[in-house]
Amino acid sequence: MPIINRVADLQPDIQAWRRDIHEHPELLYDVHRTAAFVADRLREFGCDEVATGLGRTGVVGVIKGRKPAGNGDLKVIGLRADMDALPIEEQTNLPYASKTPGLMHACGHDGHTAMLLGAARYLAETRNFAGDAVVIFQPAEEGGAGAAAMIKDGLMDRFAIDQVYGMHNNPGMPLGSFAIRKGPIMAATDAIDIRIEGHGGHASRPHICIDSVLVGAQLITALQSIVARSVDPLESAVVSICEFHAGNARNVIPQTAELHGTVRTLTKRVREVVEKRVREVVAGVAQMTGASIELDYVRGYPVTVNHAAQTDVATKVAKEIAGDANVRETPPMMGAEDFSYMLEARPGAFIFCGNGDSAGLHHPAYNFNDEAIVYGTSYWIKLVENTMAA
Ligand code: NI
Repeated sequence: MPIINRVADLQPDIQAWRRDIHEHPELLYDVHRTAAFVADRLREFGCDEVATGLGRTGVVGVIKGRKPAGNGDLKVIGLRADMDALPIEEQTNLPYASKTPGLMHACGHDGHTAMLLGAARYLAETRNFAGDAVVIFQPAEEGGAGAAAMIKDGLMDRFAIDQVYGMHNNPGMPLGSFAIRKGPIMAATDAIDIRIEGHGGHASRPHICIDSVLVGAQLITALQSIVARSVDPLESAVVSICEFHAGNARNVIPQTAELHGTVRTLTKRVREVVEKRVREVVAGVAQMTGASIELDYVRGYPVTVNHAAQTDVATKVAKEIAGDANVRETPPMMGAEDFSYMLEARPGAFIFCGNGDSAGLHHPAYNFNDEAIVYGTSYWIKLVENTMAA
């Protein structure tokens, strides 16, 4: 198996960092301990520059190759990991389980951070490349748009990043395998918040009320027609209303109701269509029922779109590490990822790395698979050495 031998030597250290980070999960931008841990390691490794505080708590390490980059269009490559955990009570019973009640690394960002640290150590030690490798550790991937915050703080320009790559582990995908695709690989996510103001009253006198429960029910049904009847059947979209709050007595028609949901799409065009139709449906149901309906339609992470040339590069590197048979083309997933902001700023690619037969992401029994470390770390290193050969 062509993982890098030196990475196999480093595995125990990388695993120890991973478990240390796992024991100390932190949320969103409050990743102070993790960021300090990362910055300390990067300084120990002898990175040429370690910058902290980008996007509040993001950390960046610059490692210069043994000679300046040639005349190609890739002089500085960015590799990105995420550092934040989730508000989930851990149920793994691991010896290194979370020491913070109610928080856990349930998405494997502990593993992502440790693998990129491992790659940084190797690259700083060997420098077997030309140009700069920039390792990016971002906060707030889980809903806080930490990638966007780092970009806003000048990440791409300050370090002159030409291309940027991301990786996420994937439970259920065999250990030692990778999956990737050109174009949209993860969805855009938008939030729908609806507040219905009807006219409450006695359940026996509905004719003088505006029943906010019925209005909500009609809204939910009508919103489902968007994917069925407004989106091209060859395109993908999800509209899910997941919360419906109304009423507190069986004989009272409630005055108000609230609905909350999410929209997932894979192209800008479909995203526009769905938003427009949600607004029209809400206005139409308000007119039909006489209720007043407030809609907050909030755009979240954009579509994660892999660039074609960089996807070819990433695929080739993954095949070198894992073998041709273990790198497959994945269909897009309807989850979202804020690496999308980085791919809007620079060309690059996002890849999935197999986590083996583990519990799913965001599940209380999930754990990052330490056996995946050698594959992910080797991928990062080969990506640098192959694309920026010394
Ligand atoms: Ni994640």
